[in-house]
Amino acid sequence: MNRIVSSEANELDNQIELSLRPERLSQYIGQHQVKDNLKIFIEAAKFRQESLDHVLLYGPPGLGKTTLANVIANELDVNIRLTSGPAIERPGDLAAIVSSLEPGDVLFIDEIHRLSRSIEEVLYPAMEDFCLDIVVGKGHDARSIRLDLPPFTLVGATTRVGSLSAPLRDRFGVLLRLDYYDEHSLIEIVKRSSKLFEVEIDDRAAEEIARRSRGTPRIANRLLKRVRDYAQVIGDGMITLDLAKQALELLQVDRYGLDQIDHKLLRSMIVQFNGGPVGLDTLAASIGEERITIEDVYEPYLMQIGFIQRTPRGRVATKLAFEHLGYTYYDETK
Ligand SMILES: Nc1ncnc2c1ncn2[C@@H]1O[C@H](COP(=O)(O)OP(=O)(O)OP(=O)(O)O)[C@@H](O)[C@H]1O
Ligand SMILES: [Mg+2]
Repeated sequence: MNRIVSSEANELDNQIELSLRPERLSQYIGQHQVKDNLKIFIEAAKFRQESLDHVLLYGPPGLGKTTLANVIANELDVNIRLTSGPAIERPGDLAAIVSSLEPGDVLFIDEIHRLSRSIEEVLYPAMEDFCLDIVVGKGHDARSIRLDLPPFTLVGATTRVGSLSAPLRDRFGVLLRLDYYDEHSLIEIVKRSSKLFEVEIDDRAAEEIARRSRGTPRIANRLLKRVRDYAQVIGDGMITLDLAKQALELLQVDRYGLDQIDHKLLRSMIVQFNGGPVGLDTLAASIGEERITIEDVYEPYLMQIGFIQRTPRGRVATKLAFEHLGYTYYDETK
């Protein structure tokens, strides 16, 4: 299902994201700790005229990992090559990419947790010693030759850092975790995007959109785009608080940014399972969603805002969740 509040990218996002992507660190809003760290590492690498250490970016979808990889390349003033774990099928694919890099370039591998083991093994010496061991010939004639590579920076991105193999994770010098954005940063993102969209928005409307974006810039931009459409059709193009609220109401995004599926999930926990604890598989079956979708997409934000808690015996709906959905809270354990 195409959810308006899904943090994963859809067709529409692909078109708008390119135009909204910040290009420099100074335009990259929020994530101060990540930026402060990067600034120092980038400056040091430039000062020493060395390639930047390999960087692993991880965190939920839509928080700006791909954007940041591009920003890093811009700040280093080098080229970036973009690929992804599933796209590299054979060792030869990887060899072709890394051997075409210029010294200092950034190689971005998205969804790096999906690299196959055989590719990972080719990657290790490339990351550590900037060389490739490749096997040429077949059968008796097979021999391994070593190929030197220019020094480069691997920037890996993943939404599931736990699925990364330990040897691969250990070869990154810089590990940066992107977290959900606070409201203040999201407001800034909404305002910046409005400017780029050339649409006027008042402060309270920007706040309203920010608040319903699940801490995620991708969702903020998507909501803004829908609200802008609404304002252009219903109003005179200017996004006011009233118009924003009406449009968001129509999109069925509540004031926490929750949609019908979040409601269904929480209601199931509360009504069918007395607030929990309930196992993830049971919950998935009861609402007809995949376990992995719940785990990766719905649950992280519901946990972040304190609506769901993870316990050893399963998931529990909290008092906040009961109240938000209009149920009286009762604690089974008491
Ligand atoms: N810090 C930021 N400041 C301004 N805009 C941002 C920021 N981070 C992300 N965005 C916006 O959000 C959009 C989504 O970001 P991006 O594609 O980089 O996310 P991602 O983490 O790579 O997602 P995925 O995990 O799905 O690959 C971008 O197009 C960009 O416009
Ligand atoms: Mg990405």
